Amino acid sequence: MSTTGSIKVTIGDILFDNPVFLASGPAGYGEEYDGFIDLQRLGGIVTKTVTYEPKAGNPGTRLQETPGGLLNSVGLENVGASVFFGEKLPRLLDRGIRPIVSLAAEDWDGYRKLLDAAADTGMIDIVELNLSCPNVERGGMAVGTDPRMISRYVGHAKDILSGAAIIAKLTPNVQDIGRLALAAEEAGASAITAINTIVGMDIDIRVKKPVFKRKRAGLSGPAIFPVALEAVWRIVNTVDIPVIGVGGIDSVDDALKFFMAGAAAVQVGTAIFYDSHLPEKIVTELEKNGIPASINTEGN
Ligand SMILES: Cc1cc2nc3c(=O)[nH]c(=O)nc-3n(C[C@H](O)[C@H](O)[C@H](O)COP(=O)(O)O)c2cc1C
Repeated sequence: MSTTGSIKVTIGDILFDNPVFLASGPAGYGEEYDGFIDLQRLGGIVTKTVTYEPKAGNPGTRLQETPGGLLNSVGLENVGASVFFGEKLPRLLDRGIRPIVSLAAEDWDGYRKLLDAAADTGMIDIVELNLSCPNVERGGMAVGTDPRMISRYVGHAKDILSGAAIIAKLTPNVQDIGRLALAAEEAGASAITAINTIVGMDIDIRVKKPVFKRKRAGLSGPAIFPVALEAVWRIVNTVDIPVIGVGGIDSVDDALKFFMAGAAAVQVGTAIFYDSHLPEKIVTELEKNGIPASINTEGN
């Protein structure tokens, strides 16, 4: 990572106009937020995670508000590789929006096919591997809690998408997220994104059943901010590659705190549901006052 005199940021070999991105998921494929967010003004948008085959996602309740947070059990609903690479991605590129393509798979075979399809497009120079979704039975978090699997997935992406920047998105649902980050770095990742949602649940007391069919769901929003900040701090102190902070950003100040913890860039997710202009406000603040320096120097 390097910051120039401006607020540009480099991840891998990719230069972004600014270090403010939309997180994968809440903003879909970008077009859903037309008219609500000026996407060209942001450094980039991490697109909704795509799998090789389309996925219908989880049945039943998918979203439930909690005090200061949001539980989701979307289950990686997505249009699949063919529609995403053939229609959604070219549309974003045509409009001058900077995509970071989020990829996931339920098994190794699906992962290989997805990577091959991504390479065939010739359009992809940066991906975020979602190694951390808590809302699916296979793949997702099951892969991303094992350093050896992280190494295997990152390594394969590096081989197939040669020259592309590979970002590993990690789960906080582990004892030591630093270990996972180190495994990704050693396998050749260009950056780490932290964090995905925290596992939680809710019960409907009237029907005496869990709210979500899969029982567990992923908690996001302001409630998880302190956890995300600590994770970023820990990873920054463990690896040398850039760290992208995500989790609970609810204000411009929250974003500044991620930079002070040593993040090279930030992503905004849940907050766009109730303050769709927050990402642009963060860009405006950085343009005005620059990116705050990391306080992560020795002795802190
Ligand atoms: C409705 C919803 C859908 C999400 N879908 C994805 C996804 O497809 N891929 C992914 O990597 N993360 C997904 N996430 C996780 C977010 O990208 C982010 O890591 C997490 O929500 C924490 O950030 P936030 O508190 O700003 O939302 C999703 C989150 C929400 C709320």
